[in-house]
Amino acid sequence: MTVSRKKTTGLTIAHLPEGELRCEHIEKTVISLPDITRLLLKPLAISVDPYMRTRMQPSGYDYIERWKAGSTLSGWTMAEVVISSEPGFKQGDLVVGHLPMQELIAADGQHLIRVPAGSDPEAYLHPLGMTGFTAWVGMQLLGQPTAEDTVLVSAAAGAVGSIAAQLAQRQGANVIVTAGRTDKRDWLHRLGFKTVLNHRSPDYARQLNNAAPFGITLNFENIGGSAFTAAIDAMRPNGRLVLCGLVSQYQTRNPRKSPDNFAQLRQKKVAIHPFVVPDYLTHWNDFQRFMAPLVGQKNITWRLDKVSGGLDSVAPALIGLLNGDNIGKRVVEW
Ligand SMILES: NC(=O)c1ccc[n+]([C@@H]2O[C@H](COP(=O)([O-])OP(=O)(O)OC[C@H]3O[C@@H](n4cnc5c(N)ncnc54)[C@H](OP(=O)(O)O)[C@@H]3O)[C@@H](O)[C@H]2O)c1
Repeated sequence: MTVSRKKTTGLTIAHLPEGELRCEHIEKTVISLPDITRLLLKPLAISVDPYMRTRMQPSGYDYIERWKAGSTLSGWTMAEVVISSEPGFKQGDLVVGHLPMQELIAADGQHLIRVPAGSDPEAYLHPLGMTGFTAWVGMQLLGQPTAEDTVLVSAAAGAVGSIAAQLAQRQGANVIVTAGRTDKRDWLHRLGFKTVLNHRSPDYARQLNNAAPFGITLNFENIGGSAFTAAIDAMRPNGRLVLCGLVSQYQTRNPRKSPDNFAQLRQKKVAIHPFVVPDYLTHWNDFQRFMAPLVGQKNITWRLDKVSGGLDSVAPALIGLLNGDNIGKRVVEW
């Protein structure tokens, strides 16, 4: 048993946003730690992710507990073990897991992954962490691209999209990627993607039709809104749609709104695969077996978009992510 330091600082919801998230919606609060804990952790980096804004919606998204005023924020975190009486963990170990956003965290060993010695710990924030897992579940497990496919991956300079697009490329598919800024598209060209479109351009639908004159056979949807509408119009009959996320809609009152042309998917007999990663956690070890060699041998490219400043930077970093500031996986470091 370990005696904790009893109080720490954490981030809580001050009040829920109705439109765009602002810094005032998240506040620092004194948080009590349990008197006794088996592990005391100090966070080194926290992931900020679009789904965090969906946890602030008043309804829907029942796969995960919704936040309300007073809720402590949590997220995928890399932390250092400060004190341990838990077998398998010792002082100085690095761990990752879904943890509360606090300066000190009381934990037990459950659902914590110890970063293996000799591996790059930062990889566990992205390609070997939740965003890599999302890309793998969506593309490898559900999308199953082949060399016969024309695959569209939207928001491909972001965390999930950049990995998902590379997984499709590795299978020999013709991969069309999109990003909303020139420097993001330049990065995607450097990753070897030949067809890189701008989903924020007013003529995106025309760009897509020109890039895929025979249609998209597999759409990995990350954005929603008008980009999703254009993707549905461009889909070939009997195609597949992997519904990963609708990030452009998360700050609106109707974040799960389907596009007006959704019925086309039925007419075109498109197979729809909506998914959320918590439903696939039994596949975690398969994912690690697949992805760890790719990462270890540098056969997949990934980048972290690091924001410094610890807890004080979480709200601005998340707001920036929701505005599309990031290239690669955005994390907040201490
Ligand atoms: N199904 C699951 O279990 C699961 C798990 C994790 C993530 N996701 C989903 O995967 C998608 C990508 O998530 P991520 O963590 O990898 O984030 P991300 O792509 O690293 O960041 C979000 C990106 O979305 C793009 N975006 C496009 N239109 C936007 C708009 N109107 N407003 C704001 N951003 C816009 C921005 O890129 P541009 O500048 O290129 O527009 C921005 O950089 C999200 O939809 C997320 O909800 C799903």
